[in-house]
Amino acid sequence: MASYYINGGNPLHGEITVSGSKNAALGIIAAACVLDGPCVIENMPHVSDIETQLELCRNLGAKVEVDADGTVHFDATSIYTHEITDERARNIRASYYFLGALLARFGKARNYLPGGCNFGTRPIDLHLKGFNAMGAAANLAHGFITLEADDFHGEHIFLDKVSVGATMNLMIAASKAKGRTTIENAAREPHIVDVANFLNSMGAKIRGAGTDVIRIEGREVLPAGSTYAIIPDQIEAGTYMIAAAATRGDVTVRNLIPKHMEPLSAKMDEIGVHMETGDDWIRVWTEPGQELSATSFRTMAYPGFPTDLQPQAVVLLCTCTGMSKMYEDVWASRFQYVDDLKQMGADITVADRVALIQGPRSLTGAMVQARDLRAGAAMVLAGLAATGMTEVFDIHSLERGYEDLILKLRSIGADIRKSSDVYENAEREL
Ligand code: UD1
Repeated sequence: MASYYINGGNPLHGEITVSGSKNAALGIIAAACVLDGPCVIENMPHVSDIETQLELCRNLGAKVEVDADGTVHFDATSIYTHEITDERARNIRASYYFLGALLARFGKARNYLPGGCNFGTRPIDLHLKGFNAMGAAANLAHGFITLEADDFHGEHIFLDKVSVGATMNLMIAASKAKGRTTIENAAREPHIVDVANFLNSMGAKIRGAGTDVIRIEGREVLPAGSTYAIIPDQIEAGTYMIAAAATRGDVTVRNLIPKHMEPLSAKMDEIGVHMETGDDWIRVWTEPGQELSATSFRTMAYPGFPTDLQPQAVVLLCTCTGMSKMYEDVWASRFQYVDDLKQMGADITVADRVALIQGPRSLTGAMVQARDLRAGAAMVLAGLAATGMTEVFDIHSLERGYEDLILKLRSIGADIRKSSDVYENAEREL
C-alpha cells in the first residue's frame, strides 16, 4: 500500500496550476452518454475516478479516446446496453449518473448501488423519487438498482433537500425526456452549471442552472458535434490556497474561477490571510511572523462553504490563534480524520457535527491515514505545515481526485515523496 512521505515545516512559494474539475467531469462524462453524435471534451483531469468513469462508458459501448493533454474524443452512438456490469461502478459515487443517462437513452437502466467516500449514510432516495415522478419504476435488489419506464417524461420535481447528485442526475435524464422538467430547490454548485453548459452546447435546452430552479425542455435528438472545455476544479484550487496559508507561504494559484472561490476567500480574509485576485488567479500569502485569528465555519451547499474543503480548512484553523468552530451541516460523519490530526498535536474536540479547534498548535510529523479523498488532502496539508516527517498511508483515495499532486506540490517547494519514489531512491543509493 503506497504512502506519501512529507518533510514539512517549510512555507510554500511559487505558482501552481489547477486542473479540470473532477466533479464536473464525472457528470459531463455521463451526460455525454445521452448524445446522438460525437463530441470533444477538453481539460479532463487525469485522476483515477475519471479513468473509472470513462472505462464504464467504454464497457457500455462508447468510443472513448484520450489525448496526452487530457482532451477526450467521445462517441456515444455505439452504446448498446442499458446495463453497467463492471464492478468498478461500485467504487465511485458518481457512477449513479449513468442511471439518469441510460434512462434517457433507453427508458431503462441497471447499475450497482454507488460507493465513494465513507462519511456517513449516503442515500440516493431523492434521485429515485425524481426518476419515479418522471415515470420510471425502481427496483433495488442484490446490490443493484434497476429502473424502467414505459413513458419517460418531463415532470415538476421539488427536491426535499439540496442535493448535487440528484440535481445533476435528474437534469441529465430530463435533457432527453419527453416534455418539460422543472427541478425546484436545485443545487447551485459550479459543476451543475458546467454540466448544463456542456449539454446545452450539444443541443440541449436547460435554463436556470446556477439558480434553485432549473427548467429543461427535453429534446428527442441531441446532435452534439461540439468541443467543450471543463471548468477548473474549485476544490483543488481551494486545497492549494489553504496549503499556502497553512504553511505561511506565498503562492499564486492559477487557472481558477475567482467567483467560485468566494466562499473560501471570504473566510481566509476573515482570519487575516492576504489575497490578491486576477482574472483567473489568486495570490495567497501571509506576512513573516503573522498570526491568523480563529473563526467559525459552517459547511453548506453552494454558495456556502463547501464540505469538500472542510478537512483542509480545519488544518488551517489548527494554526490560528484562539478557538475556532467548524460546523459540518452536509455530511453526518465527516470528522473521522480528526484523530489523525490529534496525533500530530492538534487540539480538537468533536461533538456531533461541530469541531472545536484550539490554536495555535505546532503540528509535528506523524503516521496518519488518508481516510477519504479530502481527509487525505488535509493530512498532506498538515504534513506540509508540521515540523518533521509525516507519512500519509492508504493514499489511493487521494489519487482519485488530485491530478499530479506530488509534482504540483514539489513545484512550490514541498518536500513530498511517494513510497515508490522512496524505494527507487534507496535502490539507486545501493
Ligand atoms: C457531491 C460530491 C461530494 C460533495 C457533495 C456535497 C460528487 C461526485 N460528489 O456528492 O464530493 O461532498 O456533493 O457538496 O460530485 N441526500 C439525501 N438523499 C439523496 C441525496 C443526498 O438525503 O438522494 C443528502 C446527503 O445525505 C447529504 C446531502 O443530501 O447530506 C448532500 O448530498 P449530495 O449533494 O447529493 O452529495 P453527492 O452528490 O453525493
